[in-house]
Amino acid sequence: MLKPSRQAYVPFVSVENMMRLVLHIGIEKMMVDLVTEIEADFKRWPLFDKTPRVASHSDIGVIELMPTSDGQTYGFKYVNGHPSNTKQGLQTVTAFGLLADVATGYPLMLSEMTILTALRTAATSAMAAKWLAPRDSKVMAMIGNGAQAEFQALAMKAVCGIEEVRLYDIDPAATAKCVRNLEGRGLNVVPCKTAEEAMQGAQIITTCTADKQYATILTDNMIGSGVHINAVGGDCPGKTELHKDILLRSDVFVEYPEQTRIEGEIQQMPADFPVTELWQVIAGQAEGRRDARQITLFDSVGFAIEDFSALRYVHSRLKDSGRYQDLDMIADPDEPRDLFGMVLRAQQSEVASPTKPASATAV
Ligand SMILES: NC(=O)c1ccc[n+]([C@@H]2O[C@H](COP(=O)([O-])OP(=O)(O)OC[C@H]3O[C@@H](n4cnc5c(N)ncnc54)[C@H](O)[C@@H]3O)[C@@H](O)[C@H]2O)c1
Repeated sequence: MLKPSRQAYVPFVSVENMMRLVLHIGIEKMMVDLVTEIEADFKRWPLFDKTPRVASHSDIGVIELMPTSDGQTYGFKYVNGHPSNTKQGLQTVTAFGLLADVATGYPLMLSEMTILTALRTAATSAMAAKWLAPRDSKVMAMIGNGAQAEFQALAMKAVCGIEEVRLYDIDPAATAKCVRNLEGRGLNVVPCKTAEEAMQGAQIITTCTADKQYATILTDNMIGSGVHINAVGGDCPGKTELHKDILLRSDVFVEYPEQTRIEGEIQQMPADFPVTELWQVIAGQAEGRRDARQITLFDSVGFAIEDFSALRYVHSRLKDSGRYQDLDMIADPDEPRDLFGMVLRAQQSEVASPTKPASATAV
């Protein structure tokens, strides 16, 4: 078979290479770096091409495409959300994504994004808490101890200085897994038997549960004044975590209102329910926390710009790292319009020297 040209190859970051990259950089350092990247992109929010994500719903889950561009680079993520997957030994959320050069449309990098999504979601929560949570917050309640949980806890430690994380999940095995994974990482980890117990003394409350229904993880009577809530798990039509009375007492901050009104906690509220866009707080155009007694709520659903920032960060770390493989992905004929001729020449060379079928592990 003819060998592909240089332009045919796209750097591909496999799960194995993403894990190597994360461990090489260090999880907490990477969280801090990602917050810096996402903040920088939030500050130039107006120049991005933005659209609510394109969602394909079924009774048991959703598959979504999340595109954006800053005019120079284009990115998209494919991501699913299937809360019942864990019963079959599969994950609730998996993802992969791509960066491309706007000038030519050619891909720059293809990457796994299941791990990267957990990192960027945690970094975004920590970024929101950095701007909105009460000063000197030291204790976080973490409700929902699944795949995202440890990432959320470590981002809050690295970025906001959280010292204690209080864990609760309806499944004690999830909490036990989280306790094990967070051992020796400089956090005081407290497993709790109820959500109320987890919230004792917490200035930051993070909900990150998965259920394809309107759930009420937090009710109004559970929330005192002067706290910051990150509501991460409610991110689809019909999938929420908070009782709506909490929203009425909170100042609500969102990523992209056009998407959050469809997917976030505020889907329970009228279309004109007041919200503040988080990017405006970061860009100094809107007020964040006004006083110590205020309840701030980050109604997180996950927006394409966060994935774009994370992909660009990974791309910037690839050069000379060896932590990628070249993927033969773009058909690149010697003469650009002779795509058909390229196929014919491949056939001739195949007849001359037949190749064995590619193995399942080859890229
Ligand atoms: N906002 C974002 O940007 C973003 C990004 C990634 C994932 N998510 C969402 O976050 C949620 C969690 O994702 P994950 O990958 O950790 O899922 P997961 O399935 O691995 O974990 C979810 C955990 O929630 C627990 N849970 C379910 N109902 C509960 C309840 N009533 N009280 C306490 N715990 C409960 C489950 O037992 C499970 O351990 C999902 O809904 C996912 O869609 C949001």
